[in-house]
Amino acid sequence: MPDLTYAQKLELAGRVTAPALRQVIGALALSPGSRGLDAGCGTGQHAPWLAAAVGPTGSVVGLDVSADNLNAANHAEPRRQCCFVQGDLLRLPFAERAFDWLWCADTFWPAAVLSDPVAALKDLSRVVRPGGSIALAYWSSQMLLPGYPGLEARLNAAFTTAVPYLGEVPPQHHFLRASGWLRAAGLRALQPRTFLAELQAPLAPNLRAGLAYCLEMLWGQLRGRISGSDWEEYHRLCDAESESFIGDLSDYYGFVGYTLFRGVVRV
Ligand SMILES: C[S@@+](CC[C@H](N)C(=O)[O-])C[C@H]1O[C@@H](n2cnc3c(N)ncnc32)[C@H](O)[C@@H]1O
Repeated sequence: MPDLTYAQKLELAGRVTAPALRQVIGALALSPGSRGLDAGCGTGQHAPWLAAAVGPTGSVVGLDVSADNLNAANHAEPRRQCCFVQGDLLRLPFAERAFDWLWCADTFWPAAVLSDPVAALKDLSRVVRPGGSIALAYWSSQMLLPGYPGLEARLNAAFTTAVPYLGEVPPQHHFLRASGWLRAAGLRALQPRTFLAELQAPLAPNLRAGLAYCLEMLWGQLRGRISGSDWEEYHRLCDAESESFIGDLSDYYGFVGYTLFRGVVRV
């Protein structure tokens, strides 16, 4: 795969994950006219969906630490009701109770971005009004190699040990324990929910390219962590240029799961 900017990578992954994330945002049932913060907004891909959810009188502030990502966000097609600011979600540059809700997708990773999720949530909840909510959304699972469950399991096992936010965190800092973080930070934790983005043959060219990128993002750095034969099989099935690219199967079906954890700031 050619060298891609971070913005291009987010866009490619977003082609696959959008259906799940749009369902997650729908499940938030955001109030019309409310004001929200997208913490770790990246290139602002979610901003239009969040803005649509709050209606014409609502607004969304996207915050990200990366100037490049914000540059991409500001140069995307006009996003009404949205603005983007540079800042660190661990030191939010906003007044207390400035927002009705906070959204944080694929960013709130212990080990990768923060050391103590409970302390960070206490800090985040400072900028949300009592009765408002904090939503943490995570790419939580996937089944993308139909017919090759053993290979997919071995790739996932190697990936788990390779990335700090999975392999290097104590059990209570694993992202699926986020309800516990929310409760420990003093919020009322709501029922977690998982939503799927499904991919089914025939894949349109843009979705095919998105799938190829996701397969590379997940498992493309595992050389030396899996056997030589698994590495070859991974490339045979997952390279977009391969004649055996799995996304070209006439009966291809796969999915990515997104899990939503949500807490309400106590009144
Ligand atoms: C995987 S991306 C997700 C972006 C976006 N939420 C999405 O799902 O498209 C993680 C984002 O978090 C941002 N980020 C990482 N640490 C941060 C911090 N301490 N404060 C604000 N943003 C941060 C990165 O710059 C990156 O844009």
